[in-house]
Amino acid sequence: MARDVVVVGSINADLVVQVERHPLPGETLLGRTSVVLPGGKGANQAVAAARLGADVAMVGAVGEDVNATTALSGLRDAGVDLAHVHTVDAPTGLAVVTLSDDGENTIVVVPGANAAVGERVVDGAADLVTGARVCVVQAEIPLATVAHVARLADAGGTRLVLNVAPAAELPLETVVAADPLVVNEHEAATLLGRRFADAGDAARELAARGVRSVVVTLGAGGVVGVEDGATWSLPARTVDALDTTGAGDAFVGALAAGIADGLAVEQAAVLATRVAAASVTRLGAQPSYPWRGDDLP
Ligand code: RIB
Repeated sequence: MARDVVVVGSINADLVVQVERHPLPGETLLGRTSVVLPGGKGANQAVAAARLGADVAMVGAVGEDVNATTALSGLRDAGVDLAHVHTVDAPTGLAVVTLSDDGENTIVVVPGANAAVGERVVDGAADLVTGARVCVVQAEIPLATVAHVARLADAGGTRLVLNVAPAAELPLETVVAADPLVVNEHEAATLLGRRFADAGDAARELAARGVRSVVVTLGAGGVVGVEDGATWSLPARTVDALDTTGAGDAFVGALAAGIADGLAVEQAAVLATRVAAASVTRLGAQPSYPWRGDDLP
């Protein structure tokens, strides 16, 4: 069955630790609370899209361990098709998220089973990818797989939302398959090989290199985009931020859902900025994402 959105990407368990402040190198601190939540950039994006009502399938891998149950719980809860999520002989991906009272977080990701999301896994889901309205991929799985997904989507005429997060260098032929390419300023600088003072200039430079549409996210600074030669920008919604973990993924998932629903990139980004703003008002990544019909900022 043709899906609105197919996400090829990472699935993690997030060990979230709340601390008063981050430890200095060599220092031991007592944390205040700890919880294990479903996460991973790919799974987060799939859940964000599905909670908005999109028909979503996930392609990825988890281990045969207790973290797999948590890692898949948000996807199951949101009704995401998991037929192409493989169980492999490696630990489920783990992210250790340290969240301090000033709202700053640090994340260490151990890919584990996500490293097993190779080209063969994608080929096994080829019909799903080429039949979907939108395919989403990020850089928390092997980069050769990201390039393979881009080729497959391009050949099959599937709209590719490419989120190069975390920052990575990718060949131009992969990047130009995106429509849109979604990056923050740091990720844009890594792709371009230099930092631009103005995010609009970075977006225009990426478009000049052949990317059909570009979205640069700026956190509290909003979003800048380029599509069909025109630059647009949107402000971020003003909210009391509690935890920004996974806000970028909420943005990408909502953007994909909007595009699958027929919206232009800029219109989909309006929805995505609202969904991302809602997500930062609650703890965690997936548990913070709004459902279709919820009030949005
Ligand atoms: O973008 C946030 C995500 O990054 C977390 O859920 C964590 O799993 C890491 O992948």
